This record gives sequence, structure tokens and C-alpha cells, in this order.
Amino acid sequence: MTKNIGFVGMISMRERLERKMSDTLSHTIPGISSVHANVLDMIGNTPVVDVSNLSPNPNVRILAKLEMQNPFGSVKDRIANAMIEAAERDGSLLPGQTILEPSSGNTGIALAAIARLKGYPIKILLPESVSIERRQMLEIMGAEVILTPGPEGSNGAVKRAKEMAEDHPEWCFIYQYANEANPLAHYEGTGPEIWRDVPEITHFVAGLGTSGTLMGTGRYLKEQNPDIQIIAVEPPLGERVEGLRNMDEGYIPPIFENWNGFDLLDRKRVVRPRESIEWTRRLVRECGIFAGLSTGAALAGAAKVAASIGPNDPPATILFIVCDGGWKYLSTGAYTADLDEAEANAEAIIYF
Ligand SMILES: Cc1ncc(COP(=O)(O)O)c(C=O)c1O
Repeated sequence: MTKNIGFVGMISMRERLERKMSDTLSHTIPGISSVHANVLDMIGNTPVVDVSNLSPNPNVRILAKLEMQNPFGSVKDRIANAMIEAAERDGSLLPGQTILEPSSGNTGIALAAIARLKGYPIKILLPESVSIERRQMLEIMGAEVILTPGPEGSNGAVKRAKEMAEDHPEWCFIYQYANEANPLAHYEGTGPEIWRDVPEITHFVAGLGTSGTLMGTGRYLKEQNPDIQIIAVEPPLGERVEGLRNMDEGYIPPIFENWNGFDLLDRKRVVRPRESIEWTRRLVRECGIFAGLSTGAALAGAAKVAASIGPNDPPATILFIVCDGGWKYLSTGAYTADLDEAEANAEAIIYF
């Protein structure tokens, strides 16, 4: 005899989100239950893991915050969700309206996934030179992908998106570089989580792309303890580490200016693409953490900070951000190829 399991029929994700908003579906008890009402509830509260076996200084702990554990695979899940919610709140994103964003990377993937769950069509502009996995991910998530010329890089995609936004005021242009919801997601999420889990933190290290992570998390941490050092990692001028920007390239993200980035940052650490690859490899080989290349850059920066702390200084705890996993970079050979070849590939492919 077949047992009646009480199946009441399928409901769409959109319906579930709406029900969730009216508070009828959620049965997640924060901090206790790991049952979630939907994937968006899984954004944030990422774990921290001790990787001090990589520290060049026995007096210094190094901790990794695993943002690749977010449901769409990166730190950008936080801001994509926050930017869409903010646009819904202020009325710039109405039901069924098209979203537009230039992003070859993690922001595009997270925005596309959330847009589809919520029923918004989405157009993502990306340079044709990005790694193949990125384009595939965007297509899997349901984005309409619009390619821009490879030699113009990500700045070309941004320029084209701005022109399209002007031609189509009926679309919602998210623009993560100037969107306040980006640093706010870190001010309200990443920063408080770090303070809750690691109140002994002395240094916070992260790569700088839009600057949202550093501005939001950095400001929150400084407000709790002004002695915490906020350190940005950037590639040398003219060299590339995926996801990161050199601030002397001529483009300063509006977020960085609005959040007084020059005052907030205590230091910048320059990390070369080759070092990023080397440290990304060490992280997977010696700690089992399979991360993207900007993580190797942040870890290299953390190791430089650790090495600069003297034997008579008080013990330090450095926390750095693991932005994403390594899957999207496999085609570059970053993990397996000869180092020279991997370095050349990293220079040739545009990642953000
Ligand atoms: C892989 C990766 N790492 C680091 C960053 C930098 O983070 P943020 O934009 O918050 O400065 C980005 C974002 O552009 C990224 O995609």
C-alpha cells in the first residue's frame, strides 16, 4: 500500500519568497537550525578557519573567512542581495523590471541567480576575454550575456553599460561601484560577524575591487576598536590580479570616496600576480582551501603583514577574506600549470 506523505503540490520560488516575507514559511532558528526557508537565507554567517600554519611569524595567527561558502559561491552574494533589496525598497526596481549590470565576475553571477529567483530579467555586460567558466555560470543562472570588446577590458563593459542605461531609463542599473547597499551589506553583515567571532582581531586584510568589502567591514571594525588595522591589497600598476584594482590606474570607485577610503585604510600592500598564484596554491595544498586568485593575493598580503610584526610586539590576529572558490579559474591552469605559464594566463584573462 502506498503511504500518503501529504504532498500538497509545488509552489514557485517566487511564491515561497513572498510567503517568507509575510513570515509564514520560515522555520529557521538563527544560530541553531541549519534548515533554511530558501537559499537567500543562506547568505552570510560564513565560517572562519585558522590557517596559522601558513604564518611566517609564530607570534601571529592568520584566520581565513570563507566567503565562498555563500550559496552562489562568493562574497558578492551579500551585496547582490542587498542591492536588489535596496532597489526594491526605494522603488527603482519594480516587479518584472529588467536589471542591467556590467560584471564578468561574482557580482554578475549572484545578481543573475537572485534575479531569476525573484522573476527579474537581467542583462550582464562582460568583456569577451573573460574565462569561459564565468560566461557559462552567467548563462546557467539565466542572464542575457552581452559581450563587449576584449581589449577594452572591464572599463569597456562599464562604459557600454552606462550608455545602455541612459538609452533605457526603464531598466534598473545596479552599478556596484557606486551603490551604497554594497558597503552597507558589509557594514551590517561581514563586519559584525567578524567582531562576534574574532573580537581579538588586530588586522583586517582584503583585496580592493569596488572597495565595498574594505569600506563596510573596515568602518564597522574601526568603530568597535580604532586600533584594528585595515589593510588593502592591490596589484602593482599595470599588472593584473583578478577581482582587484590598483587605485593609481585612474579610476577611484565612488564608494571609496564616499566612505573616506583614504582615511579609513591604514596601509596598502602590493602583491604581484605570481605571488597570488603561489599563495593560492599553498592555501589548497597546506590547508585544503580551494580558493580563487584574489584570495591568494589577500593571503600574500596577510603574510607580509605577519612578517613585519616584531618579536617584541604584542601577539597579533590577522583575518583575511576568501572571496570565492577556485572552480571558475581552472581553465587558467593557475593550480596545475608551470608557474610562468600560469602567470602569463593570469595576465591575459580579465576576471572582473
Ligand atoms: C574575486 C574577487 N575578489 C575581490 C574582489 C574585491 O571586493 P570588493 O569589490 O568588495 O572591493 C572582487 C570584486 O570585485 C572579486 O570578484
